[in-house]
Amino acid sequence: MEPSTDTLASQIDPQKVPRHVAVIMDGNGRWAKKKGNSRIFGHKNGVEAVRQTVEAAAELGVRYLTLYAFSTENWNRPALEVSALMSLLMEAIGQEMDKLMRNQIRLLTIGDTEALPDNVRSKLRAAIEKTSANQGMRLVLALSYSARWELAQAARAIALKASQGLLDPERVDQRTVEEHLATAGMPDPELMIRTSGERRVSNFLLWQLAYAELAFVDKLWPDFRKEDFHAALLDYQGRERRFGLTSEQLEKKA
Ligand code: IPE
Ligand code: IPE
Ligand code: MG
Repeated sequence: MEPSTDTLASQIDPQKVPRHVAVIMDGNGRWAKKKGNSRIFGHKNGVEAVRQTVEAAAELGVRYLTLYAFSTENWNRPALEVSALMSLLMEAIGQEMDKLMRNQIRLLTIGDTEALPDNVRSKLRAAIEKTSANQGMRLVLALSYSARWELAQAARAIALKASQGLLDPERVDQRTVEEHLATAGMPDPELMIRTSGERRVSNFLLWQLAYAELAFVDKLWPDFRKEDFHAALLDYQGRERRFGLTSEQLEKKA
């Protein structure tokens, strides 16, 4: 018998919950295709998985949850799919506002949001503003995001400051880069989950995932539920994160 959600959740050590979990929500199209339906139907059914993931993360005390919702490369999908995704995003934000407020969740975005349609941008801006004083979990939507876009814009910003004499090029270090990323001020994700069985990073948080634990889940995104999030966390807690050290060194430090 499958262990129930409660059994899994109760095994999670509250002291070792990652501060930041990042998720590549993948497999909506395949989920729909298996049911003989359109890809858009898959995206619609992915919304429940988003709700469950947000709830599960907030309940466990995760501080930052970053969801990869739309990549730079996804702009090249069929126009109808892109516009359906934008509409769904608008709809979901509208529907979830009350819940975000009730649960003190603060909405943020990373990505080239200038590229989003005006109506989506203004809806997002309003939601970000409305939740800006919330003290609970940060829900970070990666929208029109890619890590290479992010790194290129960081390089541009740093170069510009250097050319204006605001920054000494000799002193550019890892911290300078971090401060110019879209995720400036956020801790790096300790855990990255990707659904749908694909084992790749697809241009997601390339800098920030340097030492993340990766969890690949075979389920397609619309089937992802709270208990799957719990299972990924439990798996994460069972791993030894060495950061280049030896096990013996880690034991000494503990
Ligand atoms: C993830 O599902 C959602 C987005 C990328 C927007 P996909 O649409 O990539 O679904 P598959 O991977 O084709 O099944
Ligand atoms: C990654 O999924 C992007 C999002 C989940 C938003 P994709 O489906 O676009 O990635 P690939 O094409 O499988 O690498
Ligand atoms: Mg995909």
